[in-house]
Amino acid sequence: MPVVRGKNIEPLYTASQINERNHQLAAEIAKGPSRDLLVIAVLKGSFVFAADLIRALHDVGLAPEVEFITLSSYGAGTVSQGVRIVKDIDSDVHGRDVLLIDDILESGRTLKFAKELLYERGASNVSLAVLLDKKVKRQEQLEADYVGFECPDYFVVGYGMDVAYAFRELPFVGVVTGDATDA
Ligand code: IMP
Ligand code: MG
Repeated sequence: MPVVRGKNIEPLYTASQINERNHQLAAEIAKGPSRDLLVIAVLKGSFVFAADLIRALHDVGLAPEVEFITLSSYGAGTVSQGVRIVKDIDSDVHGRDVLLIDDILESGRTLKFAKELLYERGASNVSLAVLLDKKVKRQEQLEADYVGFECPDYFVVGYGMDVAYAFRELPFVGVVTGDATDA
């Protein structure tokens, strides 16, 4: 089992499984609305997935523009939970087909906020692509159009995703299972 920062990380989805799935997702995305496609990656967690998925999109003949938005949840665990824009996109989305890319769809609050924001700004279509879907955690009525893997309710790290800013560099998605005793 890989050991990083003195912790055992049990792989849940390997680099090759993710790579294969990304190419399948790209083929599905190419069948949807993709005229003058604008990809928007939701930072920070999606940056590795987005980097791989846009290159898989190229392989299936798409030529998207790429933007980034940084969103942050506030009030977690309190009654008034919300999402705010930390750093906005620069492009005008009016009349565009947009593909929002995120790492995990969990409660759905983040992507519901982002999707509504883009429709309010005049996007003609907004689709959602997520690497992982944790359905049991859903609080909002929202489904992704493209899902890499249905994920069990574990806290996962790697492939862009962190716990306390660590483990984003792992080339696979894994679960921290404990301290490595013989590291
Ligand atoms: P939600 O759908 O608004 O609840 O937001 C899901 C976001 O929470 C994801 O985009 C991640 O940034 C973060 N998140 C949820 N579960 C995990 C996890 O297992 N590992 C790392 N980040 C997570
Ligand atoms: Mg996120």
